Amino acid sequence: MKKLIIANWKMNPQTEQEARELLSPLEHRMGLSNNVEVVVCPPFVFLPKLSQSVHKLKLGAQNMNFEEKGADTGEISATELKSFGVEFVILGHSERRIYEHETDQEVNQKILMALKHKITPVVCLGGGKDVNKDDMGKFVTKQFHAVTKRLDQKQLEKIIFVYEPAWAISTMEKSQPATGEHARELVLRIRTLLAHQLGEKQAKHVRILYGGTVNQNNVAQFAKYPEIDGALVGAASLDPENFWEVIKEFAREAIHV
Ligand code: PGA
Repeated sequence: MKKLIIANWKMNPQTEQEARELLSPLEHRMGLSNNVEVVVCPPFVFLPKLSQSVHKLKLGAQNMNFEEKGADTGEISATELKSFGVEFVILGHSERRIYEHETDQEVNQKILMALKHKITPVVCLGGGKDVNKDDMGKFVTKQFHAVTKRLDQKQLEKIIFVYEPAWAISTMEKSQPATGEHARELVLRIRTLLAHQLGEKQAKHVRILYGGTVNQNNVAQFAKYPEIDGALVGAASLDPENFWEVIKEFAREAIHV
C-alpha cells in the first residue's frame, strides 16, 4: 500500500497566484516518488484554477455539506466539488469541530454523501475541546462509532482515517507535540476498531494517517512506524521545501515496508 500525504492548506494562501506557486514545484517533483501518493486540499476558490494543473498530485477539499443541494448559504455540495476534479474530502477536522461546532452526526451524514458521490472521505478522529491526552483512546473510540454509524462494510473500507489530536496541532492554544509512539498507539487502536467491523485482513487495507503537527523536523519519528500510513499536514504544507522533506521521509520508509 502506498503511503499517503495530504496537504491541508486551511485558509491559505491569500491569492490565486500564490496558490499556483505553491502547487507547481510539488507537481513537478512528484514523478520522483512512486511510493507515495500526495493530495492537496486548497481553499475552495482555488480549485477551478488548480484543477487545470494537477496531473500527478490529487485534489481534495477541506469540507463539504451533507445535503445534495439547496438553500444553505455559504455551503458547498459534493457534486460541485466533483465538477472540479476533487477526489478526497477532509471531514470532521478538529478546527471544524471546535470553531464551527460540527457534530459527529453531521460528520456521519457527510461521509455518506461523499461516498455516494465517489469522493473519498478523509475522516479525522481526535478533535475536540479540552480532551486530555490520556483519554484519547476512549475519546477516539466513541467518535469512531458515532461517525461510522449506518455504514456497511463496503463503505467503511473506502474511508481514510486520520488520528488527529487537537492538542497536537501547531496553531491550537497550548499545543504540544505528540510522540511517534503515541501516534502509533492510537493508529493501532483505530485499526483494531476497524478489525472488529471488517475482520483483521480487510482492516489492514484501510489507510490510517497521523494528523497532529508533522514537519521536516519531526517526520522521522512518525514515518518510521510501518503502522502509520501517512500524514495530514497543515502548516508545513505551506512551505514547499519543508513539505517535500515530509514526502521524502515517508517515501524512504515505504521502501522498507
Ligand atoms: P499543523 O496542522 O500541521 O499545522 O499542526 C495539522 C492539522 O491541522 O491536522
